[in-house]
Amino acid sequence: MEEPKKRILSGIKPTGTLNLGGYLGAAKNWVALQNEFDCFYFIADLHAITIRINPAQLRKQAKELYALYIACGLDPEKNTIFFQSHVHQHAELAWVLDCYTMFGELSRMTQFKDKSAKNADNINAGLFTYPSLMAADILLYQADLVPVGEDQTQHVEICRDIANRFNNLYGEVFRLPEGYVPKVGARIKSLVNPMQKMSKSEQDPNGTVNLLDRRDDVIRKFKKAVTDSGSEILYTEDKPGIKNLMTIYSAVNGKTFEEIEREFDGKGYGDFKLAVGESVADLLSGIQEKYTQISEDKTYLENLWRGSAEKASYIANKTLRKVYKKIGFVEK
Ligand code: TRP
Repeated sequence: MEEPKKRILSGIKPTGTLNLGGYLGAAKNWVALQNEFDCFYFIADLHAITIRINPAQLRKQAKELYALYIACGLDPEKNTIFFQSHVHQHAELAWVLDCYTMFGELSRMTQFKDKSAKNADNINAGLFTYPSLMAADILLYQADLVPVGEDQTQHVEICRDIANRFNNLYGEVFRLPEGYVPKVGARIKSLVNPMQKMSKSEQDPNGTVNLLDRRDDVIRKFKKAVTDSGSEILYTEDKPGIKNLMTIYSAVNGKTFEEIEREFDGKGYGDFKLAVGESVADLLSGIQEKYTQISEDKTYLENLWRGSAEKASYIANKTLRKVYKKIGFVEK
């Protein structure tokens, strides 16, 4: 008999648009997984409201991300792509898991400490219990693998701790998930500060290339990218700017670092930056064309996310009912 496919699950918060770092570090790798695994991806809108966000902006960004995922090559027939808020079991299991998550372990979470420092006027309880909602996201689907960036591995760890604690009390209810940090492309840095991750929350717009950026903006940002002293194109630790550009170039066109070094042997930073900019702009124009096409068909998109939420909900509900039963809630 054929082995059932392993299940993959991941989420992205709609707190900004998808940028090149998110594409090369996440979405692009997801496309490569769609045949081998049973994949679930969602827009983490429940998580997004732990930081104040304008309602119109939230709605727009959430829909944009949904269409962008598909434009990036995620086949909606092979992957279940949905909105977290459409599957009510996430919030319900999160409450249960809150009661099996300790105050002390939540206070030690790096992201909580960082975010409370950055949002001192809004350290809400949701920000604090963010990890138990994320644990619910993962455990509801009995996911085997959770592709995340390095900054999220602590959340996968605490998810395992919570699952273990629950299983020890009630038997094998939850499958223990593994974090899955892709090797290449996971670490795209800001173009203006190559020591920092290219991030949705970056202040300087020149540091981040968004998937919907216009071609001339993309090229301009790459031309302005911060480089290092010296003039050679070499992949070394003491050239963080060039190293970042090489990582991008390699992720976009599949060339190895040695091939890139050879290609630009004797050429300067200017030539190299332009070449990286053009390769990224070409990549984005394909994604943008598909994005425009998909976004125009509102009925298609709505039907898609309704159907996906139903499918997700069916699976999530099985887990939730099992949990309720184990805990001792009276059955309906
Ligand atoms: N916390 C993740 C992030 O900020 C988003 C997320 C929410 C997530 N729920 C998830 C990722 C479940 C993986 C699995 O990037």
